Amino acid sequence: MPDLIDQLAAALGPGGVLVAADEIAPYGADWRGLFSNAPRAVLRPRDAAGVAAALRLCAEAGVPVVPQGGNTSMVAGAVPATAGREMVLSLARMNAVRALDPAGLTIELEAGVPLRAAQEAARAAGALLPLSIGSEGSATIGGVISTNAGGNNTLRFGNARDLVLGLEVVLADGTVWNGLRRLRKDNTGYALRQLFAGAEGTLGIVTAAVLRLARAPRQYQTCFCALDSVAAVLDLFARFRDEDEAALYAFEYISGAAMAVNAAHMPDFRLPLAAPAAHYVLLELASTRRGDRLRETVEAVLADALEDGVIGDAAIAESQGQRAAFWALREHLSESQRRAGASVKNDVSVPVAAVPALLERAEAMLAARHRGARMVAFGHIGDGNIHLNALQPEGADPAAFMAGAEALMEDVNAIVMELDGSFSAEHGIGLVKTGAFAHWRAAPEREIMRRIRTALDPAATLNPGKLF
Ligand code: MLT
Ligand code: ZN
Repeated sequence: MPDLIDQLAAALGPGGVLVAADEIAPYGADWRGLFSNAPRAVLRPRDAAGVAAALRLCAEAGVPVVPQGGNTSMVAGAVPATAGREMVLSLARMNAVRALDPAGLTIELEAGVPLRAAQEAARAAGALLPLSIGSEGSATIGGVISTNAGGNNTLRFGNARDLVLGLEVVLADGTVWNGLRRLRKDNTGYALRQLFAGAEGTLGIVTAAVLRLARAPRQYQTCFCALDSVAAVLDLFARFRDEDEAALYAFEYISGAAMAVNAAHMPDFRLPLAAPAAHYVLLELASTRRGDRLRETVEAVLADALEDGVIGDAAIAESQGQRAAFWALREHLSESQRRAGASVKNDVSVPVAAVPALLERAEAMLAARHRGARMVAFGHIGDGNIHLNALQPEGADPAAFMAGAEALMEDVNAIVMELDGSFSAEHGIGLVKTGAFAHWRAAPEREIMRRIRTALDPAATLNPGKLF
């Protein structure tokens, strides 16, 4: 082992390898606090050649490598599966925005660029990088591609993989594939870029990417609504979609219970409506058109919805500050929930019309089988994606509650699968959902994935313990 560390240090140069216990410990702990497996060392290459050298040396020594970006995975996808043995490969020092093509609307970025920095680079050029997630301040481009992140604008622009035009990837044996093309049309055999997107670092390490951009909207309209049933939430969704689907950039759901967790744990919490409600919607319309009558559209749809009893109350953001305050209520939910105690995260999706049945059945199941667990539902309801999270009973022991996590997830998943849904809509598999993956994905599907994995990484040294 000392030889390997010396060789890696020589290959990666000053600051390229961290071994001090206090420096490497944070790389072993996931954001949710579920795992704490310190790596053997942390490797910090500066370029694809450094990644290739590191992977080659680790492969020769048979040492596993765990790629890590912002370490914001909800399913422990970027931390070692065991303590003291695996190398964490941090892409943090590969953080250049390489190029932006304003005519072709593309951006080329290194893997370690934080998503927010990428969004800002696009904005500075009058464009929009249409990927927005709660962790965007820390999450990095390599991570959001490798996990096929979803988020708030999936409704309009798709998931991370839908933005990927080109990739640069380093394979387990150190081979570098430069596929950094920026073409809208490139129909030349297997779409390798799609193979690596969402592979959770098990097929290769994404070191750079070309992403599709959109034109920056000239105007936004952001509304916060109170409703008294989930059916009404879907009714409101249909009204906005039917009115102007292209302008509907986000349609997010927050249950009353989730908002109550925010009220208790979010600093400076303030509800933008007169009174608390059973259900809330945060929706955003945007337009790139000059002089578009977006505000009139929003007011007209809301007025009809109010008159028809679909919504009880609504507020429209009157300033950029208010818009940010509305979004802060949505984006703080995960953090508030983390502060409230242990929770089992069920990131599930169903066909959108089945969302009311999902919520109803899950609530009844929790009451019957997991007494005291609090259902904290919120999410991207326009995509049928609900974060059906279960928070520990008030005052209960977090460890005791988490001991039943697998059983609770499976009870939720059984309902989800009956409704033709998915047990992981956007968070992926990581270390947390491997049980569900083995249970709910049929043998042929898992076997195809395993063969692809074996073809590219026969010794399974890349991100071991994830997916399979
Ligand atoms: C979100 O949309 O805020 C996260 O994906 C959900 C979560 O914390 O479960
Ligand atoms: Zn989400």
